[in-house]
Amino acid sequence: MAESSIVDTDILLCQIDDLAEMQTIELDIGDNKLFAIRKDNQVHAYWNNCPHLGIPLNWMPEKFLDLDGSLIQCSSHGALFQIDSGECIAGPCIGDHLKPVEVRVEGNMIYVVANQPMPQAPINLRAQALADLEDS
Ligand code: FES
Repeated sequence: MAESSIVDTDILLCQIDDLAEMQTIELDIGDNKLFAIRKDNQVHAYWNNCPHLGIPLNWMPEKFLDLDGSLIQCSSHGALFQIDSGECIAGPCIGDHLKPVEVRVEGNMIYVVANQPMPQAPINLRAQALADLEDS
């Protein structure tokens, strides 16, 4: 598994005008993945690692919300997270939190802030399954 590391420079996420209310956007930094959601004109960003198994929350690009569009939902086992706090309120990791990503809005731009630690990269179950297949 990859060592955790640091975001070493501010990284442009997107222009705020490109992120509509309740829309999500994803960004990869090396092997790490993050996503951000705009809600009530605030940007909430988290590392894309489910606290349950350490795998990405979404199967489909930029699809992180439940059917109501009001909570973040893990596509693997259905855990539900508050958008504002990242707290898991239902599912196998109830009480745990998504790891927040510090972002800042400057003018019309949203940046991932430098000098913050990155978690270990999410586990790639697809790559693991294919490796297991080759070994069998
Ligand atoms: S991996 Fe997210 S709920 Fe199980």
